[in-house]
Amino acid sequence: MADTTAVTKAVIPAAGLGTRFLPAAKAIPKEMLPVIDTPTIQLVVEEAAAAGLRDVLMVTRRGKSAIEDHFDTASELEDALTAKGDDDGLARIREPGNLAKMHYVRQDAPKGLGHAVLCAAEHVGNEPFAVLLGDDFIDRRDPLLRRMIDVRQRYGGSIVALMEVEPDQVSAYGCAAIKPTGEDDVVVVTDLVEKPDPGEAPSNWIVIGRYVCDPAVFGVLRETPPGRGGEIQLTDALLTLATADLGVAGDGGGVHGVLFRGRRYDTGNKLDYLRTVIQFACERADLAGEFVPWLRGYLDTL
Ligand code: UTP
Repeated sequence: MADTTAVTKAVIPAAGLGTRFLPAAKAIPKEMLPVIDTPTIQLVVEEAAAAGLRDVLMVTRRGKSAIEDHFDTASELEDALTAKGDDDGLARIREPGNLAKMHYVRQDAPKGLGHAVLCAAEHVGNEPFAVLLGDDFIDRRDPLLRRMIDVRQRYGGSIVALMEVEPDQVSAYGCAAIKPTGEDDVVVVTDLVEKPDPGEAPSNWIVIGRYVCDPAVFGVLRETPPGRGGEIQLTDALLTLATADLGVAGDGGGVHGVLFRGRRYDTGNKLDYLRTVIQFACERADLAGEFVPWLRGYLDTL
């Protein structure tokens, strides 16, 4: 059922422990690890802003205040760069703060992604909202989030982003059972299976870290018991919404998937983080000229 309520708010859960990035993530939030010179979390906020979402709520925790500092004004740095006449540097340090109106809420303990989203309930209110995980991002040339918002306005309910992986990789992810709609890149999600056993997966389409949620998800999350790892899982709440009785108009149920065939960068694990940094270095006009020939030469020595 179409729902034209505008999506204006983005929620970015960034309160996880980052255990795959220890010891780096012991004192520095893993979301602050840079892709060359830009923290991943800035790229995530840029993605939200590019989709028209200028109200961003970051879910953080104790020890993650570097994220708040990054989006705040840095007057000492500004004074130093002004004195040097470094206009480019000034523009670069002001950019994060100009992307969106930033808000923060703290998750008291890492009780799972679903619990982190629930921490946003008061700020979000009774509106649909986007969720962008703080440790991966979509290439700015592939406007996935905009498309998901359009799909939400057409179909209502909640929207997940799905990416196809090789069959032998599905069991590492949350996987969706899907049914076609009339549209090439939109499907109905009929089931969600977390880390299916090999051979048991309902499709090769996995859920990636972008969502547009109906506010009904908050009520479901409040009732969702801790699942895998003792954490409250967003996937479990979305499964409830996907299989809810859709006969009741305006219940906020129903989940659609947008099939994403573009470029996604995961920075939450070491190997994909490395791939991301190297790919960006090879594509950056100010670095590629020297970096690519060096990389080629280095690979020849292996
Ligand atoms: P991950 O599954 O990557 O968990 O969370 P993590 O704890 O950050 O990392 P590892 O697995 O220990 O290395 C996906 C996103 O959800 C956030 C994380 O910050 C990340 O952006 N998250 C996860 C929370 O905000 N709170 C939680 O309780 C769990």
